[in-house]
Amino acid sequence: MSDGVLPQPGNPIEAVTHVDPYPYYRQLREQRPLYFDEGLKLWVASSHSVIDEAFHNVALRVRPPAEPVPQALLGTAAGEVFAQLVRMTDGEFHAVHKPAVEQAARRWSLADVTRASEAAARDLFAAGPPQGKHGPLGGQRSVGAKFRCLTVNDLMGVLPVQAMARLLGLPDGLLDDSCRWVRQFVQGIAPGASTQAVALAAGAAEALMDQGRALGLSTVQAANRIAFMQQSLDATAGLMGHTVLMLAQYPDLALLADQSPQAMRGFVAEVERHQAPIQNTRRFAADPVVLAGQSIEAGQGVVLVLASANRDGLLNPRPDQFDPQRGERRSMGFGAGAHACPGAAIAIEMVAACIQWMRATSQFDGCFGALAGFWPLANARIPLFASRKEA
Ligand code: HEM
Repeated sequence: MSDGVLPQPGNPIEAVTHVDPYPYYRQLREQRPLYFDEGLKLWVASSHSVIDEAFHNVALRVRPPAEPVPQALLGTAAGEVFAQLVRMTDGEFHAVHKPAVEQAARRWSLADVTRASEAAARDLFAAGPPQGKHGPLGGQRSVGAKFRCLTVNDLMGVLPVQAMARLLGLPDGLLDDSCRWVRQFVQGIAPGASTQAVALAAGAAEALMDQGRALGLSTVQAANRIAFMQQSLDATAGLMGHTVLMLAQYPDLALLADQSPQAMRGFVAEVERHQAPIQNTRRFAADPVVLAGQSIEAGQGVVLVLASANRDGLLNPRPDQFDPQRGERRSMGFGAGAHACPGAAIAIEMVAACIQWMRATSQFDGCFGALAGFWPLANARIPLFASRKEA
C-alpha cells in the first residue's frame, strides 16, 4: 500500500494472524455484529451481547451435528478420546461429566501451580538458553535434558505442558515423552491434519490413555486428563508470548508487575483480556436458531470472535487501554456458559509464575527477539519471535 495503511483482514480467520486486527474487529462490532460471511460460509458474531447470547443458546453446539467426531479420526484411538472430551460434547454427556472436570481443575492451589511452573522453567532452562527461530522440535524430539534443541518459540509451547504434566503428577521419566504425545495429539486432531499426523495422534492417544488407565481412571476421566495437557498447549503458549510482548511494550508497568506475584497475575490477566490468545471459537446450530434476531439454519456454523468481545465498550470501560490495574475486568477469552474454561486461573498463574521466574533469574532478556509473526492457526493467536541475533 502506497499510503502506508495496512490492508485489513478479509475475514475473522485472517484476522487471527494479522498484525493489528483490532480496528477491523471494531468495525465489525459497530457495523455488523452478526453477519453471514459468504467466503467462509459461516456466521460471524463480534459484539459482546451477540456472543454472550450464542454461548447461552443450547441449540448452538460445539461440534457440527453431522460430524461429532472429525471424519479423519473415526476408528482411531484419537477419535475415541475426542468423543469423550467435555470440550467437544454437549447435552447430557457434557452435563454429567463437566462438574468432575471442573473439580479436577480446582484440586490445585495457586501455590501448586507456581511450584509446578517454576520446576518446569528451571528444568528447561537448566541446559542453557534456547536457540534461534527455526527449531527442530516438530513433535519429534524430547526436550528437558535435550533443551539445547529448543527454540524460544518451542519453549512457549513446551513450558505450560511440562508444568501441567508436573501438576498431574507424572514422574520425571515420563515428562518428555508425554509432552511429545500431547503435541502429536493436538497436531493430529487439527482440521486438515495429514494422514501421518493422524496416525501419530492415534499412537499418542493410546499411550496417554494407557497412562490414565494405569492410574485407575475411567475412559472419560483418562480422556479429559489428556485435555488438561492439550488445553495447556496452544492457548497458554499464546498467553505467554503476548505477555512477553506487553512487558517489553510497557516497561513501567512491567516494573510494577515485578513487585509481587499478585501484580504479575494482574498484568497477565489484562494481557489475556487485551490480546485474547484464543481469538475465536465456533458453534453449530443443531436446530434452526434465532440469534440476535437473525435466523440461522440447522447445520450452519457461527464464529464467535472473543477477541472482539473483549474490546467491546459494553463489556469493559476504556476497552482498548492496556491497564493491569483495572477493576472488575471482564473477559470472554476463556469462553462463557456451559463450556466456560475450567483452567482460566491455572493458565494465568502458570504464565505469571514462569515469566516471574525468568525475569527474576535474568533468563528472560536473552531469549526473546522481535515479533516475527504468528503461528498460522485459525483461532489461536500465538506470537513467533525472532532469536536475539535475528532481531
Ligand atoms: C490462556 C490459556 C487458555 C485459554 C485462553 C483458554 C480458553 C478456553 C476457551 C475459550 C474455552 C471454551 C471454548 C468454547 O466454549 O468454545 C476453553 C475450554 C476449556 N479449557 Fe481452556 N483455555 C486456556 C487454558 C486452559 C488450561 C491450562 C486448561 C487446563 C486445566 C484448560 C482446560 C479447558 C477445558 C477442559 C475446556 C473445555 C470446557 C468445556 O467444554 O466444558 N484451558 N478454554
